[in-house]
Amino acid sequence: MEVRVHTVDVVIVGSGGAGLRAAVEIKPPYTCAVLSKVHPLRSHTGAAQGGVSAALGNEEEDSWEWHAYDTVKGSDFLGDQDAIELMCQDAIRAIIELEHMGMPFSRRSDGRIAQRRFGGHTRPENPADPHSKRIPVRRACHSADRTGHAMLHTLYENALKNGVRFFSEFFVTDVIVHNGSCRGVVALDIRSGDLHVFHAKAVLFATGGYGRVYQVTSNAHAGTGDGMAIVYRRGIPLEDMEFVQFHPTGLWKLGVLISEAARGEGGILRNKHGEPFMERYAPTVKDLAPRDLVSRAIITEIREGRGIEARDGTVYVGLDLTHLPESVLREKLPEITGFAQMYLGVNPRREWIPIQPTVHYAMGGIPTDVDGRVVIDEHNTPIRGMWAAGEVACVSVHGANRLGTNSLLDLIVFGRRAGKSIVEYLGSGATWEELPADVIEFSRTRIERLRSGHGHERLALVRKELQKGMMEYVGVFRTGHDMQQMVSLLADLRERYARIRLQDTGSTFNTELVEALELENLLDVAEAITYSALNRTETRGAHAREDYPNRDDENWLKHTLIVRDSGAAPRIFYKPVRITRYRPVERVY
Ligand code: FUM
Repeated sequence: MEVRVHTVDVVIVGSGGAGLRAAVEIKPPYTCAVLSKVHPLRSHTGAAQGGVSAALGNEEEDSWEWHAYDTVKGSDFLGDQDAIELMCQDAIRAIIELEHMGMPFSRRSDGRIAQRRFGGHTRPENPADPHSKRIPVRRACHSADRTGHAMLHTLYENALKNGVRFFSEFFVTDVIVHNGSCRGVVALDIRSGDLHVFHAKAVLFATGGYGRVYQVTSNAHAGTGDGMAIVYRRGIPLEDMEFVQFHPTGLWKLGVLISEAARGEGGILRNKHGEPFMERYAPTVKDLAPRDLVSRAIITEIREGRGIEARDGTVYVGLDLTHLPESVLREKLPEITGFAQMYLGVNPRREWIPIQPTVHYAMGGIPTDVDGRVVIDEHNTPIRGMWAAGEVACVSVHGANRLGTNSLLDLIVFGRRAGKSIVEYLGSGATWEELPADVIEFSRTRIERLRSGHGHERLALVRKELQKGMMEYVGVFRTGHDMQQMVSLLADLRERYARIRLQDTGSTFNTELVEALELENLLDVAEAITYSALNRTETRGAHAREDYPNRDDENWLKHTLIVRDSGAAPRIFYKPVRITRYRPVERVY
């Protein structure tokens, strides 16, 4: 196995929205390499559909403070309020900036950017009275229902313009952290099977989420939690991993995303009696309640016998768009209209779309400050030379439950801030710190062990059982008993992982090897999710414990940090939530 060493100022791991937005900031004379296991335009940001939020007020009165309050409340008061305020205030500038970069937003007839409703985004019914009832507001800027796609292309073009160098089909296997500073990464060139060392002054992780830990997910196959697993293995903590977002409307059995924009444009969820059941769960905002609440409502409808039974015995609920004008389906929701037809043969003009909750987003991740610097303890001590942004990071602006459209916003706001912070760091005289002698040993050993494995286990089977287990034991509703089952299953699956035998032992384009490396990442992320969830004995946001059904601010208004050190089980500790102006109150919609 050949080893090549590249020396660059900055290495960015991941080419989705956060990585590209940061890359746009890194201009010559600084050199920047973006590594990605897929081509940048196949990054998962491209799958984001419904919109990116900003209180532009193009459709009706709005303010960034209302956006900030919605985000804090949506987070079930676990989001850090200083970071949330910063994000919502900066959102307006960030959207105008994207517009100037060339992003093709949908437009109103007066030429301004069109906005629509999304779950959990509200304004006071009487804008003059901030205490009046909150009703849904049109805050989501969009490009039809292909917003992420438009954003990804725009950012990619702008990064290319800056001379950023892309290394596509490079799979990062390790981060080089030595004596408290980050010095680069090790990556496998999937095409040749060679290992490459990227020696850098600054490293940014922007590798996205981990949806593929679960059986039903809206995430691309690449969503295997790589960045989180890589740093976790190196003893860097992960934050709030128990908070896993289930998007309420995934295509039944497949999990493919059917955008919340469908409900933003007037779609209604119905049970087998045709009842618009969200009225019972969120009487004011109904179908536009936040995702944790809607996903629980759907599962409750199904559990209580009001779901719709398919011929194969599986059960779903219906998303009714049949009353929407043809122009809305054609101009505002073309992608999801096509998906329903293409994947399930359902014409949403005439039939309800069969849907079920699907794993969609990681609220937790690598802890960072508001400039994307990776922090490692309850005092927020940064690691020199290391940043993270986007879904892989936990700033934390989403707390226990993210509002739809706030993820694309997170990418552009904190991707940019991380990029700027890196440039400032480079300008302050940062240098290439010496590489440790054994820099590739860990990656080389892992790969050689997998390629020479003589066991009898098939990786696809181990992966399937992991995904099924996570779905069953650490899903929308959780109990201590179920999560203990998952802890045991994980121990068993790890033993089986050690006995995996690959069919392809070659070097070039060995995608089976990549899948085996990804599976180890999935196992590590599943461990962090399960242990963090087991420890939190309350219900908050997306973490709904049937054995602890209430939120418990007295004991649990704090962020989880989980770290792998020398013990048999990971170590868990906590840090406080930063509260500025919104005291936690009961969360009703
Ligand atoms: O429903 C959606 O279009 C997804 C948006 C998001 O996750 O922000």
